[in-house]
Amino acid sequence: MLSQLVFYRKPFYLAPAVLRNLCIIRRLPSSLSGFAGRFSSTGSHFNASSATAGTQVTLHPKTVFDLELKNHDHLLYHPVYNKEEIDETKYTHRETQGIRDQIAFSAIRLMHFGFDYATGYVDKIGVMTETQWLNRIIFLETVAGVPGMVAGMARHMRSLRTLGRDNGWINTLLQEAENERMHLLTFMKLKNPDLLFRIFVLFAQGIFFNAYFFAYLLSPKTCHRFVGYLEESAVHTYTLCLKDIEGGGKIAHWGSHAAPEIAKFYWRLGDRATVKDVVAVVRADEANHRDTNHVLASLDASDKNPLA
Ligand SMILES: [Fe+2]
Ligand SMILES: [Fe+2]
Repeated sequence: MLSQLVFYRKPFYLAPAVLRNLCIIRRLPSSLSGFAGRFSSTGSHFNASSATAGTQVTLHPKTVFDLELKNHDHLLYHPVYNKEEIDETKYTHRETQGIRDQIAFSAIRLMHFGFDYATGYVDKIGVMTETQWLNRIIFLETVAGVPGMVAGMARHMRSLRTLGRDNGWINTLLQEAENERMHLLTFMKLKNPDLLFRIFVLFAQGIFFNAYFFAYLLSPKTCHRFVGYLEESAVHTYTLCLKDIEGGGKIAHWGSHAAPEIAKFYWRLGDRATVKDVVAVVRADEANHRDTNHVLASLDASDKNPLA
């Protein structure tokens, strides 16, 4: 019951995330609440059918059905967006300020280079095939789910060994990790990666998990800034993906293929939701992670998490 209440709590959107969380989650004065509410979801489901009115929705040929998505008890809190919030999501970039930001941004640019090469990514519409898009997205999501869990674990351990409070960070970080894993599980419904891809993921995780863990012990601020820049990049990638769908690229059919059931369930999309609608809500999630991590990167480890 409690978890259902948490799940159905009004979602928030991170541009005004601090205000919203102060007002809704922590129940501060209603005058502030009214302001933040303008940026909040109404709590209703995003009506995907209105976004795709007149579109014939057909099943993606590789759709795998989920027969047991019946309750929300196992899910952590995550935002559910209305159409305005989805349409408002834009790529933004935070300029680097200081050496930590420069290290974080340089690391992202380096990773980007290797990542683009490995997944055959071309930063133009009308070029990438469906297989290339899914390879990139699935690989990206296997990496994106690591930082939240590592940081949450590191802070959990810190709380245990210092016998002190965490100040509300762990929950936010674990929410991010689960949200990223749900992105992965959603796109896995459209492709079953081969053995080589899985081996690649295995090695990438082995390296990235350990590197991020030790880096987090050394400088949590740099690590959160790194994730902020990583998520900026994810927003850019999903924006290009949406343009590719809308612009008649090689994945134009994502605009008419039905969304996987797991996505309709998780983001409470309408029955006529398409894969394009899924890409749009995933992009909104990435913008959320971007803003969250840029906020956390500006705090000291002992500060209270203003987003909790
Ligand atoms: Fe993601
Ligand atoms: Fe993300």
